[in-house]
Amino acid sequence: MTEKEYKALIDKALDGYFKAHEELPQGGLAQAMRYSLLAGGKRIRPMLVLEFCRVSGGDVDAALPVACALEMLHTYSLIHDDLPCMDNDELRRGRPTNHVVYGECTATLAGDALQAEAFGTILRSGLPADRRAACAEILAGAVGLDGMCGGQYLDMLGEGKKLTARELDEINSRKTGALLTAACQMGVAAAGGNEKMLEAAGMFGAGLGMAFQIRDDMLDVLSTEEELGKPIGSDAQECKNTYMALYGQEECARMVNKLTDYAKSALNGVFADTGFLCGLADSLALRKK
Ligand code: IPE
Ligand code: IPE
Ligand code: MG
Ligand code: MG
Ligand code: MG
Repeated sequence: MTEKEYKALIDKALDGYFKAHEELPQGGLAQAMRYSLLAGGKRIRPMLVLEFCRVSGGDVDAALPVACALEMLHTYSLIHDDLPCMDNDELRRGRPTNHVVYGECTATLAGDALQAEAFGTILRSGLPADRRAACAEILAGAVGLDGMCGGQYLDMLGEGKKLTARELDEINSRKTGALLTAACQMGVAAAGGNEKMLEAAGMFGAGLGMAFQIRDDMLDVLSTEEELGKPIGSDAQECKNTYMALYGQEECARMVNKLTDYAKSALNGVFADTGFLCGLADSLALRKK
């Protein structure tokens, strides 16, 4: 499948979630969840789930709920990341942020509910029980204290301080790298892939994740709000530690290339058909949004 075909498949599947709830008394919350979920992200994480499932010999259709779950989880992280108490941003995916439209309380709950529904969606999928459990376990590890939430906490703690390169890597490997790594490994787990595959997927995800956040920091300085669909200059405004501030544009570009090469090389000898994954890594290294 091409990137475009994967995205269409994922968008269509996501549209099926929480629709029926809109008629219920808590329908306003379902609406807030769908507002951000269907706002049209790049869908990189669910794409990684599906493609790693495929190259691990699994059934892509059977892994679709797992892919959707990861996008729910990611969307929750974005809704909370934008809250006034966090990055305080008012534009996301080209639209006003969730709390701007629905208020802080509903936005907080929309994030909370998306997180729970993500795990529910994995556990209710038609995959064999051991694969469902493996996917849920990988995701829990990637989101919790050692993962995204831990990283977001460190990101907040570092505001206004001068961190070392190692400290910055620690933040970013958790706040962004962990979920991208989980995406790759959940794809393998959904296919019932072996340890060697899980390890290679983990290395690919870690390299890609680090490159992804460096590129994100670059775009916060170099892009435009129209192109990015989110505010630029947000990092400086919030006194964040970023790769751009620490290394500058040229060194950042060099690091993105090096990490992308590392990610691609991790696939060698483990997966046979790596054309899509290598192409995706290359396109993300040069992405404009
Ligand atoms: C943004 O993620 C948050 C980071 C981890 C840097 P994406 O750049 O994948 O955002 P969407 O999903 O395309 O909106
Ligand atoms: C946030 O990183 C990563 C998340 C866990 C959501 P950023 O704060 O840099 O992400 P953007 O730039 O707002 O998308
Ligand atoms: Mg943030
Ligand atoms: Mg942010
Ligand atoms: Mg950013």
